[in-house]
Amino acid sequence: MTELSDSPRRADFADPETSGPPARRKLFIKSYGCQMNAYDAQRMTDLLAPEGFDETERLNEADLVILNTCHIREKAAEKIFSELGKLRAAKKARRAAGLATKIVVAGCVAQAEGTEILGRERAVDVVVGPQNYHRLPQLLRRADAVVDTEFPIEDKFDHLVKATPSQTRQRGVTAFVTVQEGCDKFCTFCVVPYTRGAEYSRPAAKILAEVEELAAAGVKEVTLLGQNVNAYHGEGLDGRSWSLAKLCARLAEVPGIIRLRYTTSHPNDMDDELIAAHRDLPALMPYLHLPVQAGSDRVLAAMHRKHGRGAYLDLVGRLRDACPDLALSSDFIVGFPGETEADFATTLDLVRNVEFASAFSFKYSPRPGTPGAEFPDQIDEGIKRERLARLQDLLEEQRQAFNRKMIGKTLAVLFEKKGRHLGQIVGRSPYLQAVQVTASEHLIGTLLPVEIVAAGANSLFGRLARPEAGAGIEEVRA
Ligand code: 5AD
Ligand code: SF4
Repeated sequence: MTELSDSPRRADFADPETSGPPARRKLFIKSYGCQMNAYDAQRMTDLLAPEGFDETERLNEADLVILNTCHIREKAAEKIFSELGKLRAAKKARRAAGLATKIVVAGCVAQAEGTEILGRERAVDVVVGPQNYHRLPQLLRRADAVVDTEFPIEDKFDHLVKATPSQTRQRGVTAFVTVQEGCDKFCTFCVVPYTRGAEYSRPAAKILAEVEELAAAGVKEVTLLGQNVNAYHGEGLDGRSWSLAKLCARLAEVPGIIRLRYTTSHPNDMDDELIAAHRDLPALMPYLHLPVQAGSDRVLAAMHRKHGRGAYLDLVGRLRDACPDLALSSDFIVGFPGETEADFATTLDLVRNVEFASAFSFKYSPRPGTPGAEFPDQIDEGIKRERLARLQDLLEEQRQAFNRKMIGKTLAVLFEKKGRHLGQIVGRSPYLQAVQVTASEHLIGTLLPVEIVAAGANSLFGRLARPEAGAGIEEVRA
């Protein structure tokens, strides 16, 4: 007999120490925005596994739902509230079936909106900022709704990394590792310094231990993450402060790790040592995401980027001297307050000058609490839309031209997973392009030379340049 009652059967978010081993429960986690959020979502999943939570992709069977939010652009908070409205209905439907659901809002909207979220949406049980994920198990055990958005003194990574049962968890070929968080730069458009707090670099020993664990679990490529990753200045293995270049050099020695990448960088933190690493460190891939945001000195000054157009172009020149095949990517904002048509033309001009392999571009969106939102000369939405379309046309042209240039070349491809079609596997080129090849699945996890035969809209297509025996080759570049 099925029993329907008002009191949920599975309201048991109690402390496992007092109520025996936790029953297995389901976690649905949805992550928005940047790779740091994707990494944090993975960490939260790892942290909650010993609490009895297994991940599900089906919302209706979830005992715990986490929205890991992003606050960087657009109407982020509004989108989350509309999503929460749907979750409220799902929670109600489960409750009618006698099942309890806890809803957590994490990420930067949680940090920015805090208690307001509980005020506006009663279905929410926990609001937790990016610095406090390690406290999630305790927060979930509380019966009352709770907000935790402080910037604590302790290192959240200590708890998060310790909680990672990497040995038992199935890892892929590539992984992200956060090495740095937060930002002190205070660009006038950006919420990150407010939502993620001051810059903090993890000690190299902890990063190394994590990378070694990942390598032992079969990971071959690691992307180091940070909002200002090239400002990394963590404690080194020798007790001194280490730069990102030094950290990369040490991580490249980890057996099994054959590729390193890092993102996102600020032009001002691109020092000579890191530029030289792109020349001297074969594991460091020739692809760099180096946001410039705009091409006009006037706009860059108003954005408080602390670098001009000339400095950026000069830096690109030095990078390409060190690493001639370096592919560049960037972020752009159009329609920043006060941007004239002439200013915008200099952005297009900079793009023509650099030739980007890929890029992200956005209309300026005033973020409450940032200086830019208070600037008087906000730009009309229609103008922003039109400028964005022109910029994106140019960037798309460059992306496709870059991809077409690969046809006929042999690139080292690290195969990551099954491809789109039966019999295909897909990997990444050194320049982060997806490469589809018809080949056996057992080649997933190997680095092989691939001759590129065609360039599609989103992937390159190629064929193995040498028989399968060629696994473990050195990187071959375009
Ligand atoms: N409006 C539009 N784009 C923004 N970004 C950050 N803040 C804003 C904003 N207020 C973009 C920047 C940044 C990227 C992650 O998001 O280009 O580099
Ligand atoms: Fe935001 Fe990047 Fe500027 Fe920091 S450097 S304030 S993260 S755009």
